[in-house]
Amino acid sequence: MIVLGIESTAHTLGIGIFRGGKVLSNVHDIYKPKGEGIIPRKAADHHADVLPQVLSESLSKAKISLGDVDLFAFAQGPGIGAPLSVGCVGAKALALKCSKPLIGVNHPYAHVKIAESLTGLKSPLILYVSGGNTQILIEEKEGFHILGETLDIGIGNLFDSFARATKLEYAHGSTLEKLAKGGKYVELPYTVKGMNLSFTGLQTAAIRALQDHPAKDVSYSLLETSFSMCCEALERALFLTRRKSILVCGGVAQNKRLQQMLKTLAKEDRVKFGVAPDEYNRDNGAMIAYAGGLLYKKKGAKPINEWEPEPFQRIDSF
Ligand code: FE2
Repeated sequence: MIVLGIESTAHTLGIGIFRGGKVLSNVHDIYKPKGEGIIPRKAADHHADVLPQVLSESLSKAKISLGDVDLFAFAQGPGIGAPLSVGCVGAKALALKCSKPLIGVNHPYAHVKIAESLTGLKSPLILYVSGGNTQILIEEKEGFHILGETLDIGIGNLFDSFARATKLEYAHGSTLEKLAKGGKYVELPYTVKGMNLSFTGLQTAAIRALQDHPAKDVSYSLLETSFSMCCEALERALFLTRRKSILVCGGVAQNKRLQQMLKTLAKEDRVKFGVAPDEYNRDNGAMIAYAGGLLYKKKGAKPINEWEPEPFQRIDSF
């Protein structure tokens, strides 16, 4: 079965094509705001503008035509309403044009499932870290459970807003890793509540610390503090659940320092550790196609006109 997946929850418009156990193509185009956060309308306009080009590139890389697609999938949520709608409308139009079924996919579910398939980990304890989300998850027969999560902003949003305060040209969390190299530790607030986390106090303190300390030192300290918080909450969940492996996924999972800290934690606690290649941790269409195929087998599709974006959809209740 050939599945085409559309990702559009935030700044990325991605279209991936999956057949059997293989990714045939995974093409994307990113909206990069300058000096500001994501403006929903601008992200939606970007996605609508680039969708035809990304679609034709994805089809040509996969060496198939649109008529060969058996199932269309789109990221249903959680995400930002306006860009989510572009992916949903685009997927509906393609499914109608080809008279093929359509399925909505929970975005975190797609991150988890593609990472599990690429690492080969079975029933891991999951740390899902991205712009809008920070969650500690397990899957059981009846579905996913959220054991802990951020009580305010996602860890990626913490990095993005701090990056904007440092006036970086491309104010995105990924640029902080380079800036932080060789930095010294500056004391910052650390907030773990059981298996939940809070980042807004840390955000305010880090932005304030820029007045007295070099950006390099504050960036380094921000990354160390927030990643340590995630590790503490995750280790607590590990002892509670007694899972045999840890999987990290989502955009922030690309950070090499976080990966190193989790590897150390896994080694000390004698469990396996896994992370997918960066291409599948950033937002991408291939994971939506892959997860769409899984959900279609499990639940089947519903009529095309009944699908709507769900900006607040959660992995434990979709
Ligand atoms: Fe994501």
